[in-house]
Amino acid sequence: MSTLAPRVLIPADRLQARVAELAAAIDRDYAGSDRLTCVGVLKGSVFFLVDLVKRLQVPVAIDFFQTSSYGGGTSAGEVRIRKDLDLPVRGADVLLVEDIVDTGYTLRTILDLLRFRGARSVKLCALLDKRPARQVDVPIDYCGFPIEDLFVVGYGLDYAEKYRNLPYIGVLEESP
Ligand code: IMP
Ligand code: MG
Repeated sequence: MSTLAPRVLIPADRLQARVAELAAAIDRDYAGSDRLTCVGVLKGSVFFLVDLVKRLQVPVAIDFFQTSSYGGGTSAGEVRIRKDLDLPVRGADVLLVEDIVDTGYTLRTILDLLRFRGARSVKLCALLDKRPARQVDVPIDYCGFPIEDLFVVGYGLDYAEKYRNLPYIGVLEESP
């Protein structure tokens, strides 16, 4: 991987404009809910989740999972919960907020767990949908941007824990 700045795929202003649109749609759909909880998956979703909830008018709680795939890769298919939620899920309207849906294994596991725990409703909001990489079907209720099967960084997404703080979504290019 190159040490050059990643090539810009989605600039910061487009990200922010799309986040505002998603927040407006969520506000409309959850108007009247007094039990909305936005659940993020650490660490990648944090930047997106914070920008999103800052724009919501509906009352909202936030909570976090941390997961890892057995075997270390993102395609191992078996997901381990390393940090569980703090808040009870039963009776809540849970909106799972994710940075990216890739194979779908992580999200499938978490969505099933939230339903099993008795959430009143469970929906998914994902900033990026890497649809060509999907292994298991995961319906996305609020999608920021569909992207190709590229490895992306920035706005929470990392490569070996680097680049999360970029304000845009970028693609790492090979050195010339
Ligand atoms: P899954 O394959 O859908 O289970 O995705 C698991 C996790 O892999 C995502 O939540 C991200 O944290 C990470 N991931 C997947 N694709 C990328 C990428 O292109 N860049 C950085 N992280 C990624
Ligand atoms: Mg993630």
